[in-house]
Formats: sequence, structure tokens, C-alpha cells
Amino acid sequence: MKQLISLEINDRVYDLPLDPRDLLVDVIRKKVGLTGTKKGCGQGDCGACTVLVDGKPILSCLTLAITCRGKKITTIEGLTGDTGELHPIQQAFVDYGAVQCGFCTPGMILTAKALLDRIARPTEEEIKRSISGNICRCTGYKKIIEAIEAAGNTISAEGVK
Ligand code: FES
Ligand code: FES
Repeated sequence: MKQLISLEINDRVYDLPLDPRDLLVDVIRKKVGLTGTKKGCGQGDCGACTVLVDGKPILSCLTLAITCRGKKITTIEGLTGDTGELHPIQQAFVDYGAVQCGFCTPGMILTAKALLDRIARPTEEEIKRSISGNICRCTGYKKIIEAIEAAGNTISAEGVK
């Protein structure tokens, strides 16, 4: 039976009729219409569905939407500023050629955001460890790691959140 549940996504509250079994990834994509979050494997293996819940990266394909009541959900759309300017991590991915097909990119960037919120200038090893659950079939990871390093430097220098 559906219940009316409030979810806060990208600082906006959505009142949604949800089945207790609804997965967060499906709610975000199909009910809210934020299709930046990708659904790849649907079983916790690829990281494409990563979103932030209270600032921590989680796999939305393994998360029941109702468990996110009262929490702050951030999707890739939430990183872009009100006027459409890219977040420094997004900009670095563009500048360093870290995007090819783009399917892994939203999850990768949100994982990087959680890392850079914790560690302003992570080592290469820390970056590799943090994105180890995010699979990219195109880039070979080198440019992704460079982009995250560069974004960390920009954010530290400019004090962006
Ligand atoms: S779609 Fe969630 S981990 Fe692959
Ligand atoms: S850019 Fe294609 S999967 Fe990463």
C-alpha cells in the first residue's frame, strides 16, 4: 500500500506516494524526474546510481526510498548552481577529459564530492580507494583521478563547497 512520504532532494521537498519497496534510484529517476542518476547493474556492483544521503555516497539501487525520510539527498543535478554554472568537480571532469560516454560520471562525481568534503587534497591512493566502487568502462580512470586532484586544488584555493 502506498504512503505519502516527503523526501528532500537537492534542497527541495517532494511529497510522493511511495510503496515501501520502492527503490531510491527509481523514485529519483521516474517519480521525481531527475534522470542524471543512472541505473546500471541494479545490484550494487557498478556505482552508477550513487547519490549522497546526508553527504555520504550510497548506492540508490540498494536503498529503499522510505529509509531516506528526514535526510538530505543530493543528486548530480544538485551540484550545479542556480544559474547553471558547473561545480568545480564537474568543470574539472570536462577540462581533464574525464567524461566519455558519461554513464558513470554522475556517480563518480558525487563519490568525489564526498571525498573532497572529507579530505581537501587527497592523495592518488585515497582517490583510487574512494572511487573503487564506481566502474568506468571508457576512460581507464587516469583522467578521472587527475580531474579529482585538480578539483581538490580548485576547491581548496577558492573555498567552494
Ligand atoms: S546501478 Fe546501483 S550499483 Fe549499479
Ligand atoms: S565515461 Fe563511459 S563508463 Fe565512464
